[in-house]
Amino acid sequence: MSDSLILKEIKEYYWDQPVPFLVEQLPRLRNGRALDLAMGEGRNAVYLAEQGFTVDAVDLSEKAVRKGMALAHGRGVSINGIVADLDHYRIPPDRYDLICCFFFLARPLFSEIAKGLRPGGALVYQSVTTEELKINPTFRREWCLEQNELLHAFRDLRILVYHESSLRGTTSHSALASLLAIRPDSSEPIGR
Ligand SMILES: C[S@@+](CC[C@H](N)C(=O)[O-])C[C@H]1O[C@@H](n2cnc3c(N)ncnc32)[C@H](O)[C@@H]1O
Repeated sequence: MSDSLILKEIKEYYWDQPVPFLVEQLPRLRNGRALDLAMGEGRNAVYLAEQGFTVDAVDLSEKAVRKGMALAHGRGVSINGIVADLDHYRIPPDRYDLICCFFFLARPLFSEIAKGLRPGGALVYQSVTTEELKINPTFRREWCLEQNELLHAFRDLRILVYHESSLRGTTSHSALASLLAIRPDSSEPIGR
């Protein structure tokens, strides 16, 4: 994603609008069943439902999930909101055509995410890296991806897009890692 698009992401955070990186990748995604990890108030899950996906969307916050379901209802679609702690969540294997995660570090789930994709299914992930600490020292390191972390964690997938950005001197949440990766179309399950 270009720096100008990332700046757009930072400056134009709308709680009910999807992240631009997801919108940008949509033409490369196969429709079907999607999982949104740490859905927040549902901006991305609802967008995916509007595009025809059947969406499971998980968040720890019951209030956020309720807001997400209400947003879906208001926009004439439905999502399956799930209140759960992702630190202890099990993703059913071979289940999803799309798994996405935005602005959340789902490190304990990385291997389950890869296994949860159907062959040909896609992972779209964008979150903050440790570079953020140079821009915003009060940001918490335990929320940050390491440099290249997504690249290594999902190396068994076919990586179509990976980049990291750092826009020094701008506002917070500007050091982002962005990934689009596809589970290879083979009969071999991943990591088992
Ligand atoms: C920065 S928000 C991002 C929300 C959404 N992905 C978006 O882009 O709008 C992070 C979300 O992670 C959720 N969260 C934090 N810890 C969690 C956990 N252990 N399990 C599930 N959700 C969690 C929070 O409730 C919050 O909604």
